[in-house]
Parts: sequence; structure tokens; C-alpha cells
Amino acid sequence: MAIITTDINLVIQKLQQGNPVAIPTETVYGLAATYNSEDALKAVFALKNRPLNHPLIMHVAHNWDLNEVVQFIPDYAKKLMKKFWPGPLTLVFNCKADVLHPLVNAGQNSVAIRCPAHPIAQHLLQQLQIPLVAPSANPFGKVSPTTAEHVNASFPNDNLLILDGGRCEVGIESTIIDATQTESYQVLRQGMISEQDIRAVIHTSVQEQPSNIVVSGTLETHYQPEKPLYYWNDIKQLEQFCQNNTQKKYLLGSKKLKSMTLDLHHHFLDDVQQSAFDLYYQLRHADTLDVDLILIELPPACNPWRGLRERILKAGTALPSS
Ligand code: TXA
Ligand code: MG
Repeated sequence: MAIITTDINLVIQKLQQGNPVAIPTETVYGLAATYNSEDALKAVFALKNRPLNHPLIMHVAHNWDLNEVVQFIPDYAKKLMKKFWPGPLTLVFNCKADVLHPLVNAGQNSVAIRCPAHPIAQHLLQQLQIPLVAPSANPFGKVSPTTAEHVNASFPNDNLLILDGGRCEVGIESTIIDATQTESYQVLRQGMISEQDIRAVIHTSVQEQPSNIVVSGTLETHYQPEKPLYYWNDIKQLEQFCQNNTQKKYLLGSKKLKSMTLDLHHHFLDDVQQSAFDLYYQLRHADTLDVDLILIELPPACNPWRGLRERILKAGTALPSS
């Protein structure tokens, strides 16, 4: 059975002993391990059933010296860190040779680093003074957790210690930027810090070629609930589908169908922050309800909605046209 705690000293002790612990961040809960403990790294991959070629993000305290692992920090990356750290932005840098266990960065010559804003995560990292790797605390391919209870539901039999930091404020994973080139950058995973937000801070050009770096956000399916999830663009398509389909449905959308009772509809897409806060939380809620299907409205294909849209496209499939 998992243990949910608010005892940060117990968490520090467990981490220092080489055990994984689930921790809150402002985006989603992470399955944390000290970045230099081989046993803890192996345990994280095993718990998540995560392929070993998927590198992890290193989470650091605000005052941690990146030069311990990073080869060079481009000027534009310094500006982004100044503006968005601590916060939901991950930067991928070239890393120094032989400083990281190969499970951290999948043996690549790069490393992803993020400085989380959640006060409990920051406090923990400041106390530890050791970076923590932390993939989202869910089995590989499933919906990320945004509460301690979600983590508990994902790992019910694993004796996992879970540090409770309340519900995650952002609700979807960090934006990831490739900062391995000095003169250009690339967004590897969209998030709540949008390309618009980035361009308001830097005028650096965007890399033309697609990156060959492995990012789970680039897999075709990910973030999937247990129940079938269908997305739609056009309310007429939804109406038509519902006329011909008698299964029980949970609907996340900006409009409610007349035929639906209130508790089977969640108001979605009025506001981008609120929608991100709700997305995974509601998908997990729908999985616990007595419904057969989850239907969700697709956000527009523009900023600031791209992070949400990307996740919904990967979590579900298009609504069948009839
Ligand atoms: O918001 C977040 O980023 C959350 C919280 C817990 O911090 N973490 C998270 O971790 O989303 P995870 O493991 O679910 O996703 C990490 C992503 C993966 O897609 C991985 O491929 C990418 O980061 N990544 C890690 N190291 C990388 C590297 N060296 N180069 C490119 N991508 C990397
Ligand atoms: Mg993940």
C-alpha cells in the first residue's frame, strides 16, 4: 500500500537512502529519485514500466549550479531561465561527458533540466542540494497525476511514499525546449509556457529540422485514460454521434447537449489555464464514473492552446463520423 505524507524529513530520508518518492510539482506529480542513485533510477523505470531509452528530467533547486553537468548555456537560454524559472519550463542542454548515469539521459550527450516552482518541491530540493529526476508519476503512456490520490490510484500495491502538496496548479507537463544549439532553439513539447510567451522574451531563430531527440510527447499515443476517449471539433459532429449512440458518455466541452444531465458534463475550454488545470483531473474523474465513453472538445490549433491540443490528440481518437 502507498503512504501519503506531508513529512518532508521522512521524504528526504527515503530519497537519501536510494528510494523513489512521489513528489508534487506545479505541473503534475513526479516519481522522484536522486539523480546519482542507480538503484533509485532503476526503481523509477521499473515502477513506471518506462522504456529505458526515454530520458528523464533533472529537477534542481533555484540556486543549484548547472555547470556541474551542463557544457554551455546559450544566451537565449539564460534569458528564458531568468524569466521562467522557477516554473514549468524544461531546457535540454549539451551535457558534460561522464557526469550522468546513463539512465538519466538515455546515454545521450544532452540533459533536460527544470527548476520547479511548487514551494514544497523547491523546499525539498533546497534541503537535499541534490537534483532529483522525476518523470510524471504514472505508468508509462497513462494520464499524469495531479493529486496525491491519483498517484496512489496508479501505484496501489507498490509501498510508495507520496509527498502530498495538494492539487497541481498548472495541470499539464512542462514545456520542453531544445537549447543544445547556440543560435537556434526548438520546442520539443508544448506546454503552458507557449511559443508566444517565449518569443516575448527572445528573438532567437527556431531550428528548421525536426529534432532527433526522444520525447514522450512525440509518441503517437500517450496520456491515455482507461475508457475510450474521442475528441471532436464541430458540435454538429457531436450531436450526430450522440443521436446514434446509446452508450453512457462523459462530456468535456464548451457547450452542453440538451440531452445530457449536468453531472455528466464538465464545462471546458472557456479559459486556457482553467482547462489545463482540469484536463487530466477530469479524465481521471471520468474513469471512476459509471460511463462508457469520454468525449472531449478539441482546443483550437493555435497558441496558447497548443499544449492542451497536443495532449488531447495523443490521448484520444477522432469521433467516428456516424
Ligand atoms: O512537468 C514535467 O515536466 C513533469 C514534472 C513531474 O516535472 N515531468 C515530466 O517527465 O513530464 P516525463 O518523464 O513524463 O517527461 C519528460 C520528457 C520526456 O518526453 C523525455 O523524452 C524528455 O522529457 N527528455 C528528458 N531528457 C531529455 C533529453 N536529454 N533530451 C530530450 N528530451 C528529453
Ligand atoms: Mg510523462
